[in-house]
Amino acid sequence: MIRKIAVLPGDGIGAEVAQGAVEILQAAAHRFGHHFHFQYGEIGGTAIDNTGNPLPEETVELCKNSDAVLLGAVGGPKWDKQPPHLRPERGLLKIRNDLQLYANLRPVSLHSSLSESSPLKKEVIEGTDLLIVRELTGGLYFGKPSERTTYEGKEAVVDTLFYQKEEIERIIELSFEIAGKRNKKVTSVDKANVLESSRVWRETAEEVAKKYPDIELTHMLVDNAAMQLIKNPRQFDVVVTENMFGDILSDEASVLTGSLGMLPSASISASGPHLYEPIHGSAPDIAGKNTANPLGMILSAASMLRLSFGLEEEAQAIEKAVSDVLENGSRTADLAHSGKETLGTREMIAEIKTSLLDQEAIANIMGAYA
Ligand code: IPM
Ligand code: MN
Repeated sequence: MIRKIAVLPGDGIGAEVAQGAVEILQAAAHRFGHHFHFQYGEIGGTAIDNTGNPLPEETVELCKNSDAVLLGAVGGPKWDKQPPHLRPERGLLKIRNDLQLYANLRPVSLHSSLSESSPLKKEVIEGTDLLIVRELTGGLYFGKPSERTTYEGKEAVVDTLFYQKEEIERIIELSFEIAGKRNKKVTSVDKANVLESSRVWRETAEEVAKKYPDIELTHMLVDNAAMQLIKNPRQFDVVVTENMFGDILSDEASVLTGSLGMLPSASISASGPHLYEPIHGSAPDIAGKNTANPLGMILSAASMLRLSFGLEEEAQAIEKAVSDVLENGSRTADLAHSGKETLGTREMIAEIKTSLLDQEAIANIMGAYA
């Protein structure tokens, strides 16, 4: 298989972890006989520094002409004082919008060898396997107006929570489709006791549910959902929610698995290539120190093989390499217990690569004796 992959490393640890994904994909390509062509583009603060634009047009073109996009992370204190249109995050929001990445899938499942790294008790988190389906191109992130203003002659500010009914429908439909392939439960999270947008969200979920009689739909208020996630995360299968709630709940859910650095995500496009990125940010405090956890990014690359290219065996091989390396006790600093030895980013990438290629060697030996 020949595929074009756009790589947007971005800022902070983005470059370090993106490098990991590329190396692991190259190893997978080598093992399984594929050709992946990587082309790099700029986004975020780095793009602002080099071009004056958080998302240069060439980057958008590059992505549109690729089969899939890998993204590291954007942002950092260096650009915090910039006007809104010159913030790194604006580049990320714009690429989500330009590529119509309306659904962000954030799976939260526990690697059993990491149960000690979770802040929650083992009995609470064991067996957790949920998927947050976050709406990604609407709601407060994109509604207009969003500006400082005056009201009755005094300083004021407004952000707008706007959704078209169709946008709500398509994300809820997608989550029912996915639930059909999982444990057949959808929890729709809203704030219907306060927000009109949430009441429409809830009605829409009810309407969609009629088309999926074998799937159980539950509604949950977002404040309760935040509590239930740490009280009893096993109760969830697919959780669908609007953009801002999904942003907040997915960070919360990520630490169930031991570290924010572990979580991959896939942003699904209505029309063009999908985009894959870890859910963590650019972590400027540890950037350039070779301490970032590359696993969220590497697992995002595995999702890319599965969802964009249909390469299930290859995706599983990468996921197995990650599990095996964790099983062997290898830990980056975010996962390690104090006093225990830790691996740097590059060393962790090297271990995953070795493990991935060792699987092949073992398969060859088995083949020879079959
Ligand atoms: C995420 C991030 C982004 C978001 C930021 C960097 C704009 O937190 O992908 O979750 O809020 O969507
Ligand atoms: Mn976030």
